[in-house]
Amino acid sequence: MDHLFSVSRPRRTIAPGAVHIPGWLSTNRQRELVEQCREWARPPAPMRRTALPGGGRMSVSTVCLGWHWSPYRYTRTAVDVDDAPVPPVSPTLVDLGRRAVTDAYDDPAAGRAYEPDTALINFYDPAARMGMHRDKDERVNAPIVSISLGDACLFRFGNTESRGRPYTDVRLESGDLFVFGGPSRFAFHGVPLIHPGTGNAECGLTGGRLNITLRTTGLT
Ligand code: SIN
Ligand code: MN
Repeated sequence: MDHLFSVSRPRRTIAPGAVHIPGWLSTNRQRELVEQCREWARPPAPMRRTALPGGGRMSVSTVCLGWHWSPYRYTRTAVDVDDAPVPPVSPTLVDLGRRAVTDAYDDPAAGRAYEPDTALINFYDPAARMGMHRDKDERVNAPIVSISLGDACLFRFGNTESRGRPYTDVRLESGDLFVFGGPSRFAFHGVPLIHPGTGNAECGLTGGRLNITLRTTGLT
């Protein structure tokens, strides 16, 4: 009778080039990544709520590897934090990104060719949100790889034209993979809602959500 209670979450293409693979990472791998995120969040160039040009701050806290993103450019040092050099993207993360692209597109050659040079690690407390935006400060259209850890969220994946409809709402849970590239690379997306208390207790995060996003800037 177990099947009556199990909710199946199939792999799904949300839009052309945008693929959601639920349960992509094992609990062990999730736990390792959560531990690494804790290390990456420490100074120098620590995690912070990014200051916005209008004077406010993002509700999400972010730390960068490879290139440092601040509105709306990339630098080699954390110019809006302590100006410390940003550590490189770890080979483990690059490898994870290659496997993500391989699996999302069922295309090992695309995976081998993937060379992310930036990782953004975002932490959402239960009240944090991310408005609809495009990842548009990169000069190349290599796919974006996004990994979710901890509390589930509502991820809104839209279109390339506007912040509004049509969009698709997807629940991203701990261990899920979302890749968007090709025709969806510059689509608007955002996180309107975190679902507190829904995380995988064994992944080492007692509350909140972590998101690891891999990007290729095309900068040298
Ligand atoms: C982002 O778009 O930078 C983050 C998306 C997410 O947290 O899932
Ligand atoms: Mn984004």
